[in-house]
Amino acid sequence: MKHTIFGPMLAFTLFFCLLQVVFVPKSAGEVRKIFTIAHRGASGYAPENTIIAFDKAVEMKADYIEMDVQRSKDGKLVIIHDTTVNRTTNGAGAVKDLTFDELQHLDAGGWKGEHFSGERIPLFEEVLARYKGKIGILIELKAPELYPGIEEEVVKKLKKYNLDKNESESIIIQSFNFKSMRKMKQLLPHIPIGVLISRQENATKQSIKDFSAYADYYNPSIDLLTEELVLTAKSEGMKVLSWTVRSPETAEFLLGHNIDAIATDYPDYVLAQ
Ligand code: G3P
Ligand code: CA
Repeated sequence: MKHTIFGPMLAFTLFFCLLQVVFVPKSAGEVRKIFTIAHRGASGYAPENTIIAFDKAVEMKADYIEMDVQRSKDGKLVIIHDTTVNRTTNGAGAVKDLTFDELQHLDAGGWKGEHFSGERIPLFEEVLARYKGKIGILIELKAPELYPGIEEEVVKKLKKYNLDKNESESIIIQSFNFKSMRKMKQLLPHIPIGVLISRQENATKQSIKDFSAYADYYNPSIDLLTEELVLTAKSEGMKVLSWTVRSPETAEFLLGHNIDAIATDYPDYVLAQ
């Protein structure tokens, strides 16, 4: 019989996979895992939505990086949170009114600290290439109503990197724009889709039922989170992801609920507990 090191290697790999998720005691002998999502990268420690923040999240062993996708004037998909560059770069103006070349020449790190100067606004494609297989990627379509057709463009890039299948849920897509997410589910039926919830009107039993027609994740802001809300979303077959941890106390609060994932600027606050 042929002996290989496959068995020990598999055990070793599984052991390290288990180390990368938070285990919360549910009841005696039972544990559940909560994914740690580095919000805009490890943005408590590095300038949000930059390579250095995403690298930091990998180094800290988060399960996913979260990022916000928008589109430049000349049609490139870029990673930035606000619809203007004013807050997080040394430039001014709307993302949609600047070419990729103009965006690339902005400093997206210096606002967070002088030693981060020189960080750039990443291309969506660059992030897919760099992190595929290393960490999960939670893609938020930020204000897709400003970018007609951005859903198809995101799908095209995911297909290019063979990330359009549901392999270990390595990709999740979310937005505050529900129409866009309904469309995304049609385009990518095998990829988990999330709805971002910040208003009470979207936390009623009926609205949760309506979301479950196309969403796999119900993603309420921490301000809206109650155990009843979690139970309702789960009874409709959705997972729950809540946001955003910016203190150890908020991490503790969210970890006390039966949710599936936590978006945090400080991955260590969630991973440590
Ligand atoms: O993942 C949740 C979060 O990204 C939603 O809010 O404003 O940080 O994009 P925002
Ligand atoms: Ca976001």
